[in-house]
Amino acid sequence: MNTLAEKLNDTLGPAAAFLSPKGRRIYFPYGGILGQGAEAKACDINATIGMAFEEDGSPLVMPCFSKGITLDKKAFLYAGSFGLPKLREVWREMQIEKNPSLVGKTFSNPVVTNALTHGLRVAAELFAGPEDTLVTPDLYWDNYSLIFGEALGVPQALFNTYTDGHFDAKAMKAQLLAPGDKKILILNFPNNPTGYTATDEDAAAIVAAVKEAADAGKRIVVLLDDAYFGLVYEKGVHNESLFAEFSDLSERVLAVKLDGTTKEDYVWGLRVGFITFAFKGATADQLKALEAKAAGNVRSCISNVSSIGQHLAIAAYADPGYRAQKKEKYDVLKARYDEIRRILAQHPEYADAFEAMPFNSGYFMCVKPKGVDAETVRKYLIEKYSTGTIVLSGLIRLAFSTIPTFKLARLFQNVADAINELRA
Ligand SMILES: Cc1ncc(COP(=O)(O)O)c(C=O)c1O
Repeated sequence: MNTLAEKLNDTLGPAAAFLSPKGRRIYFPYGGILGQGAEAKACDINATIGMAFEEDGSPLVMPCFSKGITLDKKAFLYAGSFGLPKLREVWREMQIEKNPSLVGKTFSNPVVTNALTHGLRVAAELFAGPEDTLVTPDLYWDNYSLIFGEALGVPQALFNTYTDGHFDAKAMKAQLLAPGDKKILILNFPNNPTGYTATDEDAAAIVAAVKEAADAGKRIVVLLDDAYFGLVYEKGVHNESLFAEFSDLSERVLAVKLDGTTKEDYVWGLRVGFITFAFKGATADQLKALEAKAAGNVRSCISNVSSIGQHLAIAAYADPGYRAQKKEKYDVLKARYDEIRRILAQHPEYADAFEAMPFNSGYFMCVKPKGVDAETVRKYLIEKYSTGTIVLSGLIRLAFSTIPTFKLARLFQNVADAINELRA
């Protein structure tokens, strides 16, 4: 059991007897991203936050969302456990528009979730049990462990994320083929923490590996965490969700798409996401049954998702300015990505201090410090350089989504200087 859970149970003392086995395992991860973020709160450069800010430091929000805060009274009515029908319809159409490979494919209607974390929890409760295995790359968003491992007791198996600067599909296949009939695979592109999205070549290898494992008799639930969808900055990088490929890959592969407004529409507190299902040969009734399972889970837990958030999203997507505003915000993040590429090219000496991990998309990039522990660097960066970063799996994650372009050069110089000083 996690030591934080043990501590809470100790604090509860005899009252811990009230807890269920799941209740005993759960804890609040004070020490992870949240704890590190809190430590960096007062820093001049705070690259810890998984949100986005404008060049002037204000939240990066599209007017099509913020202006809609004066809503019709019906926005206060229940939305229903499946979500507002209009929003489900619009999101489905938008998925096809953003992922042309979905044209002509069969997939369920999306069910509305309280954003992606809740969608993952719904998927975990529907599909994963202690007898199954959660398969993730070794560089992954740490909340997967809390949702699947700590909350639901699903064992997790890791595979090597990169080989030669590419996604290690071979390592993934080996984990899928390991003993155990049912595997829950999470694929997250653009990835948190690395900011990496599969190239077209990687994508083909990933799909082929899952097919091989399914053909070898494994039953595989592929969870596509598309939180950062659309934020791809390089050519040759797969810019569609792999949901289309998995939707008709095999009767033994269930594709579950988790997506939403949070990161791609820059409305982190809105809490509107979606869960969508597909598998080869699925009938309309089977897909409806999966939608009902998801909505039943929603009803058993939160009843339904905020109607106000869903109405705001419907209004924003119907706004004639939506696409242009979204492009404008993409350009802000892309400009920062380009600046980081420029900084790294201009400072080859940084390679003595750290290795920049492969990145091409999303909100973040990671560096691996050389000759010194990442956590020591993180602490030193706060103390000496007033620079906040996040450490995950031995890497330092830099959230360029939060740092104005003009501060990026200083951020990288600070990281390099900190590492060099600690090694001296
Ligand atoms: C990879 C990934 N998936 C899901 C989420 C959760 O998103 P939401 O805020 O919509 O629950 C995050 C948030 O940091 C994330 O990084």
